[in-house]
Amino acid sequence: MAKPKATSENIYVGLDIGTTKIRAVVARKNQEDGVDILGLGSAESTGIRKGVVINIDATVNAIKDAVHEAERMSGVEIKSACVGIAGGHIKSFNSRGVIAVKNGEVMQNDVTRVIESAAAVNIPAGYEVLHVLPQQFILDGQTEIKDPIGMSGVRLEVEVHIVTGAVASAANVTKSCQRAGIVVEDIFLEQLAASEAVLSDDEREIGVCLIDGGGGTTDMAAFNRGAVYHTAVLQIGGNNFTHDLTVGLSTSEKEAEKLKMRHGCVWMDMVSPDDVVEVASVGGRPGRKIARPVLTQILQARAEEVFTIFAGEFQKKNLAYMFSAGVVLSGGMANLEGVEELATDVLGVPVRIGRPSNIGGLSDMVQDPIYATSVGLALLHAKKGKSSNAIVTSTGTSGSEEKMFGDIWSRMRAWLAEFF
Ligand SMILES: Nc1ncnc2c1ncn2[C@@H]1O[C@H](COP(=O)(O)OP(=O)(O)OP(=O)(O)O)[C@@H](O)[C@H]1O
Ligand SMILES: [Mg+2]
Repeated sequence: MAKPKATSENIYVGLDIGTTKIRAVVARKNQEDGVDILGLGSAESTGIRKGVVINIDATVNAIKDAVHEAERMSGVEIKSACVGIAGGHIKSFNSRGVIAVKNGEVMQNDVTRVIESAAAVNIPAGYEVLHVLPQQFILDGQTEIKDPIGMSGVRLEVEVHIVTGAVASAANVTKSCQRAGIVVEDIFLEQLAASEAVLSDDEREIGVCLIDGGGGTTDMAAFNRGAVYHTAVLQIGGNNFTHDLTVGLSTSEKEAEKLKMRHGCVWMDMVSPDDVVEVASVGGRPGRKIARPVLTQILQARAEEVFTIFAGEFQKKNLAYMFSAGVVLSGGMANLEGVEELATDVLGVPVRIGRPSNIGGLSDMVQDPIYATSVGLALLHAKKGKSSNAIVTSTGTSGSEEKMFGDIWSRMRAWLAEFF
């Protein structure tokens, strides 16, 4: 089969500005209506705290590093991306709108109006609406309608999930990207991006909950009948697990992080009492040997706290009955040994680890739950379909194509210069 022609429009980039890592993923639409991964890059993130930019310069430099690495691997000049947003400032709620249908048949204009009426809610000063996600339309009392256009009726209602965030936080994300030379095509709530990469349509239809455990926060998104019903951000993440180890084992953050990555487990039944791990001490003292169950006990206590909070959230919002397809875990936390077992025990529903799926190209390089958000952002960028990224080296393209994209790019640059 012939390779799809690479044009500046079909190269898409996801940029995940995380608390511990900034990750860029480059993807290209393929002929099967899917995407191929062309390259990826990552850099240590030091300017982000609990999902929020606290140091613009450090964030700009890390974005540049991740983007350059992804450019080198993919042969693409990255100019635009879809970017994730997270943090404790995110507040979400459900809302409802109602209108009278103008001509007895629902038109696009009626759908726009009813969604606008649902979104017309009081939002605190300094906050803006990030997403208005329709759950179901109701036409003259008939519920569970996904697309009412063309249907006859007089009273159109919609139920939506609204995500809001602090204007300043969104502005700092955009500013950091712009200073790093990246145009932000769109901003998405990070757990919605991760859901795009690791959940199937079937799961979203019958009901599923994604929990993405990152370094700074643990974010959830609950789906049912293909729509988003609830989103929440918990300000506890992998950094808290690491910190517990520094205190519990009297060691440095660096050593604690290393121990967690190498020997971390959150389910006591999986470790043998005879397992021993080496711990470097602080202040130049000699290292010690500790039983692995001690390490596990500390991590399991923190993991239990995280999932107990989500179990409480499920109960409070009456969500648990929705999750016929259970819970899917992504982010670095999903790599902790025993986390499936622990989460199943605490939440009382089936749990699986979510790895980006249904993608081609260098897909094996992103087969890790830590890439869920960045791959999801690239998929959302591809869905949006607007991009100014161009192939600039011979990777995946012929010489003549290379020249063609060079020309397109210089034309676009001139065109963009008129606007900025
Ligand atoms: N193999 C592993 N075993 C245990 N923990 C891991 C592993 N890989 C990553 N982590 C932990 O996961 C966390 C990072 O996860 P991730 O890369 O998803 O976070 P992030 O996107 O940078 O942060 P956030 O989403 O909170 O902004 C760190 O705390 C790290 O220690
Ligand atoms: Mg993350």
